[in-house]
Amino acid sequence: MKIFAFAGSNSSTSINKQLVKFALKSFPEYEINLIDLNDYVMPLFSVDVEKKGYPDEANQFLKNIEECDLIVCSLAENNRSYSTAFKNVFDWTSRINVKIFQDKPMLLMSTSPGGYGGGNVMTEAKKFFPDFGAQILETFSLPKFNQNFDPEVGITNSELLAELESKIENFKTQI
Ligand SMILES: Cc1cc2nc3c(=O)[nH]c(=O)nc-3n(C[C@H](O)[C@H](O)[C@H](O)COP(=O)(O)O)c2cc1C
Repeated sequence: MKIFAFAGSNSSTSINKQLVKFALKSFPEYEINLIDLNDYVMPLFSVDVEKKGYPDEANQFLKNIEECDLIVCSLAENNRSYSTAFKNVFDWTSRINVKIFQDKPMLLMSTSPGGYGGGNVMTEAKKFFPDFGAQILETFSLPKFNQNFDPEVGITNSELLAELESKIENFKTQI
């Protein structure tokens, strides 16, 4: 079984990528394909540029999903929505296959330094990712990342840690 994992961020210090890496520790039996959105940089989506064809990176992103059994991701929140880096990948890939996520089971997460933990982008993704083929089985938002996460340890807040662990267990029982 193979997991395709990504953070919806192009930051080299992405807190969402740190959360994804932490969650992936609960899947030791799986082969992991954790990508970096910086390897999927494409021109800013435009219907004019699109006439020249689709970037290889967009096809590769979709191929990663085709080849996986599960998706584990965490979305960065910028101005209450997706990061530009993720939205560009989203837009390009949706033009090739509107069912981007190809009915793969998804553990969907978000985090931010704020108390809502990326709750706005989570709400948007929960509502609309299914239109793009996502089979969201569990969701988790980590609020106040800097207070609740230690890069050496992971989630330090025991209630939030228990919540994520329980959701991952539920996720595993559904796949
Ligand atoms: C342009 C911009 C807009 C942001 N808007 C929000 C926001 O609406 N809500 C929020 O919780 N955090 C917001 N933030 C803070 C991000 O959550 C924070 O930068 C976080 O580290 C992003 O995740 P990442 O480290 O995985 O990229 C914003 C940051 C930037 C740069």
